[in-house]
Amino acid sequence: MTSTLLRGRTLSFLRWPETVDDHSAWRYEDDGGLLLRNGRIVAAGAYADVEKKADEGAKKIDHRPHLLLPGFIDPHAHFPQMQVIASYGAELLDWLNAYTFPEETKFQNAQHGRRIARLFLDEVVRHGTTTVAAYCSVHRESAEAFFAESHDRNMLNIAGKVMMDRNAPEGVLDTPQSAYDDSKALIAEWHGKGRQHYAITPRFAITSSPEQLEMASALCREHPDLHMQTHLSENHAEIAFTLQLYPKASDYTDVYEHYGLLGRKSLFGHCIHLSEREADALSDTGSVAVFCPTSNLFLGSGLFDYQRYRRREKPLRIATATDVGGGTNYSMLRTMDEGYKVIALNGEKLNPFQSFWQLTRGNAEALSIVERVGTLDQGSDADIVVLDACATPAMRLRMETADTLAEELFLLQTLGDDRAVREVYVAGRAAKPDMAA
Ligand code: GUN
Ligand code: ZN
Repeated sequence: MTSTLLRGRTLSFLRWPETVDDHSAWRYEDDGGLLLRNGRIVAAGAYADVEKKADEGAKKIDHRPHLLLPGFIDPHAHFPQMQVIASYGAELLDWLNAYTFPEETKFQNAQHGRRIARLFLDEVVRHGTTTVAAYCSVHRESAEAFFAESHDRNMLNIAGKVMMDRNAPEGVLDTPQSAYDDSKALIAEWHGKGRQHYAITPRFAITSSPEQLEMASALCREHPDLHMQTHLSENHAEIAFTLQLYPKASDYTDVYEHYGLLGRKSLFGHCIHLSEREADALSDTGSVAVFCPTSNLFLGSGLFDYQRYRRREKPLRIATATDVGGGTNYSMLRTMDEGYKVIALNGEKLNPFQSFWQLTRGNAEALSIVERVGTLDQGSDADIVVLDACATPAMRLRMETADTLAEELFLLQTLGDDRAVREVYVAGRAAKPDMAA
């Protein structure tokens, strides 16, 4: 079996970096090597040491002076919203009704779903993201299309057919029973096939009847190892409508709690306006709050209080995601730049090591997949991004005055986008699509 030996400046995190001087939180090699075989990283460290472990025929690729990091992880995005992104002038509920639901009706057509799944994963990988937790449309065919495309590329992705049976147009509605049956069939076909993971995906409480949340609950009980993903506390009108629809619930989180949907594999998009009780409930169950900065700014939803959630007595597990197409960019670098600004508006700062921890190991921990991805550790899957901090004239000029790794990372976050992504490896294979394709 042929192997690949990568050379470059390698950076991988071991834990949350408290400060920019917290060197033991990461492993950085100025002349690093990664030996890839059978889709895995079989050796990592100083190039001179790793080279000794490479077999005679190993293919050598020299990425110096660029940075090699674990591929970025996007824990919340909607693949059927590629033609919703950049839709003007509405807050969440109007935006869903005016743009999103009509667009998602097109995924009744399996061919359309296959085309968009292909273009979505092209776009994601082109931006340096190697794992995404994706919402499909309500149609079973859309999830089939997503998983088939993901499996063909040998990507580790998490996805699910959205369950929604009310408060939306006929063309994007299922029923409690059909949602259960379709989810069951998709789980049987795709979960654990290669690197595919199924997520039980009730869209949110507004579009799921109590009967449907009962079905989601049954699916979670029957498949306790699966992820569950939904939306929570994004927008004030959404919260008010939810409490009207679920009058017995003490708050929005309680709606999901009642159906047993909280837990360590549960991913809650947004979580902006949580009460202390709701945050405690998420923390007690190890549920994950997914911060979606470009989306929250674009839809005017609010400012996620990242540092408060992290530092409270009962801290939240936090992921950071694009939320395309409410989110406005596929790039996790652009996402983290906007995240930095949201956190700044809350009077706090995130240092660049913390940002890159979040995009890699942090998001992998939040998704409970850190045993496979999110680091460059020996034994990990070989999902890798190659970053060039001099990718544009403005970046090159600014790099003239950047002396430290922290400055370089911050520059990548602040000025970088897909142009800074030189190459991407998915399960050990170079995978960056051609721009013209
Ligand atoms: N809440 C329910 N559905 C959606 C969606 O598609 N995008 C966002 N941002 N919020 C939602
Ligand atoms: Zn979303």
